[in-house]
Amino acid sequence: MSRFDPLALRPEFPALAREQDGRPVVFLDGPGGTQVPQRVIDAIVRYYRESNANDGGAFATSRASDAIVHEAHAAVADLLGAASADEIKFGYNMTTLTFHASRSIAATFEPGDEIVVTTLDHEANVSPWRVIAADRGLTVRTVDVDVHDCTLDLADLEATLSARTRLVAVGYASNAVGTINPVKRIVELAHAAGALTYVDAVHYAPHGPIDVADLGTDFLATSVYKWFGPHLGALYGRTEVLDRLPAYKVRPAHDRFETGTQDFEAIAGALAAVDYLRTVGVASGTVTAAEVAGASRRAQLVGSMAAISAYERELSRRFLSEISGIPGLHVWGIADPSRAAERTPTFALTFDAISPRAAAEELGRQGIYAWDGDFYAQALIERLGLFDGGGVLRLGLVHYSTTDEVDRTIEAISRLAAGAVVSA
Ligand SMILES: Cc1ncc(COP(=O)(O)O)c(C=O)c1O
Repeated sequence: MSRFDPLALRPEFPALAREQDGRPVVFLDGPGGTQVPQRVIDAIVRYYRESNANDGGAFATSRASDAIVHEAHAAVADLLGAASADEIKFGYNMTTLTFHASRSIAATFEPGDEIVVTTLDHEANVSPWRVIAADRGLTVRTVDVDVHDCTLDLADLEATLSARTRLVAVGYASNAVGTINPVKRIVELAHAAGALTYVDAVHYAPHGPIDVADLGTDFLATSVYKWFGPHLGALYGRTEVLDRLPAYKVRPAHDRFETGTQDFEAIAGALAAVDYLRTVGVASGTVTAAEVAGASRRAQLVGSMAAISAYERELSRRFLSEISGIPGLHVWGIADPSRAAERTPTFALTFDAISPRAAAEELGRQGIYAWDGDFYAQALIERLGLFDGGGVLRLGLVHYSTTDEVDRTIEAISRLAAGAVVSA
């Protein structure tokens, strides 16, 4: 057992104190957006109080705002292992950033060139490529999944890559079933074929360390609101690649990829969210303050994210062990507890007795908040034959989830699987 203590972290999240019918609410909606620590809320409020101004001005509030925005870029660079703050681009959300980047990236492609997408991905890393491909006469090819455990079919990826492949768009982890892809291997294969890589790390980012340098990826996109921050997107682009792309920008703008006035208050919140993650290692009791004294922000972040990952694997093993064998219940994706390292603690379930929506409604009545549907992982849900039945029930654990919450959820799931809808 790891020393990771979520109870030491939870008081910093005001939303986690919520109760329903006298019982604590169980938040299993993290893959749709996590709760935020108080320091994120404070940073946003403080931004408005102390530094609310547009950028580049010759006065104190504008300078203060610029300093926060610069530091936030540097902080996200540290979170992702990027070489420089300039490689981080903030934007409205991952989808918007990806539509925007796709235009610049595809401007360097020729008609007949190919873009590879996957059946496992969220549509935000598929639709932008299909749309730009239609605009520019490119071909989109799709890599399949192994439906038995919802892992990406790497043999199919290798067969799909060709001398015409110019970009591989792939997820780091599936937001529907939790599968973690072998991203480094995929980047190697794509680069060997002469293609760029665009990794959607939106689902993965709250669950483990990311090192864009080690992965070698050209792009990697995240959403700050999935890692305990405000609603904001953040995109990493490798300098050598960004510099050679045409930018769709207005003439005077100094940044080539951040368009218009930024969401400065959310960027201030992103900086605070990185700071929260930096402190998780010590605050969770996994490492001592003495052990991290003098360590860089990047080193502390890697330590925290590794601690989160190890703890979440314990949660996954517990969940998968307890859930196995419940009659009338189907777990989609990797269900073997010994393979917990290959997945995030995001579980997709269907029931013989009840639809995903009815299950989510019943859990909601019991104070267990979880999503149902396809979560825009539409191709996967269709491939699994679940689309017409309303998709799946998704239970998303994060590092503030507790073993007690897992056990309470399993009890509720067992009752649902047995056809027991307690209230209406
Ligand atoms: C894996 C994945 N990719 C992309 C997105 C889209 O992110 P955004 O809402 O920031 O556009 C989501 C959102 O749920 C997601 O889970």
